[in-house]
Amino acid sequence: MSGELSPIDKAKFVAAKRAAEMVEDGMRVGLGTGSTAAWLVRCLGEMVREDGLKITGVPTSARTAALAREVGIEVITLDEAKWLDLTIDGADEFDSDLNLIKGGGGALLHEKIVATASDQMVVIADKAKEVATLGAFPLPIEVIPFGWQTTQALVEETLISMDVMGRTSTLRMNGASPYVTDEGNHILDLHLTRIGNPRQLALVINQIPGVVENGLFIDICDTVVIGYGDGKVEVRDINEGTVETDRIDFVDDENLFTDLSE
Ligand code: A5P
Repeated sequence: MSGELSPIDKAKFVAAKRAAEMVEDGMRVGLGTGSTAAWLVRCLGEMVREDGLKITGVPTSARTAALAREVGIEVITLDEAKWLDLTIDGADEFDSDLNLIKGGGGALLHEKIVATASDQMVVIADKAKEVATLGAFPLPIEVIPFGWQTTQALVEETLISMDVMGRTSTLRMNGASPYVTDEGNHILDLHLTRIGNPRQLALVINQIPGVVENGLFIDICDTVVIGYGDGKVEVRDINEGTVETDRIDFVDDENLFTDLSE
């Protein structure tokens, strides 16, 4: 069954599988959103069902919550958990300092709250997500629907004084309607091409009225698990300064490799 996966899906799967090994009995775990995080949820579900792993999960989106319940993970709210041992999530881009762009899946607000409320954040990604400089992937920002066009104009004006290469933005759509987040907000995707100072941009963008949060994750991620299509995984820990390589075997597993909706 795993032979039918594309190399990119294999890379995402092995990264997720390796990160799942970091989860221990009794942990409160933040569960990310997106196609890579969906693999993680499936792997953890299998560990819960077959190995008796005891964890509680705090999902970062309604769709992750549905998948987690489906695979047998006990789901609680962040307010019930209060603090988390570990959050594992995907990313759209990561740089050598493990600063991230997130939000391609529209869940950046809950993702940032959950990751910040965790002792440790681990990102799982295929190698293609690694960049020298953030910004080729459009930076998502969550804005409230009220006056969103005015907010957009203010954001574009603010970008003039920022160290970025592009300054246009687009309202994310879902078919003919604006995309709506789990909090009932919209997403503006900023086409910046290159972000020279991500820390400064993250701070400045969040000062604009109407902006709820931006998809730059600065100093939040501790570890990245990078997956490759041939089963190789690389684990980089920014705090320890360590890099380990490993190999994950693909195993045929009907539960893991079927019905993955994302
Ligand atoms: C969801 O809002 C995002 O932050 C995702 O984690 C990110 O877009 C990565 O998604 P994939 O794992 O699907 O590439």
